[in-house]
Amino acid sequence: MKLVIGSDHGGIHLKEVLKQHLAERGIEVSDAGTYTEESCDYPDIAVKVCREITDGNAERGILVCGTGIGMSMAANKVKGIRAALCGDVFSATMSREHNNANVICLGERVLGPGLALSILDAWLDTEFAGGRHERRVNKIMAIEE
Ligand code: RB5
Repeated sequence: MKLVIGSDHGGIHLKEVLKQHLAERGIEVSDAGTYTEESCDYPDIAVKVCREITDGNAERGILVCGTGIGMSMAANKVKGIRAALCGDVFSATMSREHNNANVICLGERVLGPGLALSILDAWLDTEFAGGRHERRVNKIMAIEE
């Protein structure tokens, strides 16, 4: 699976922790920024990451900001993106199984690194269940039309 990751200044430290973990798992990830601790605007990074997915360069994406909230709001404005803000393992699993989330949003100022990694692993390792959930996800996507 090819992933793309991005953060603003508020999520840059957790982004590095997640990248290290992905490398240890042998999962390919491209980093769409930000690359310094200088203040930047999270919608710019959210759009960059989401475009990598909608352009077919990555299968799924990870976005980190202080709370994950701004990233999730911005990402869900991009056509084709289903971004899930996750603060627990159960929600992360369900966001894949029921909602087929193609982006996960995490908050560096909310989560400790251990919990963030458990959330990420659950999200990475869970497949979409399809069936009745596919009909519902299709209805979400139809809202964009
Ligand atoms: C940046 O200070 C902060 O607002 C941002 O990282 C994020 O938490 C927004 O939702």
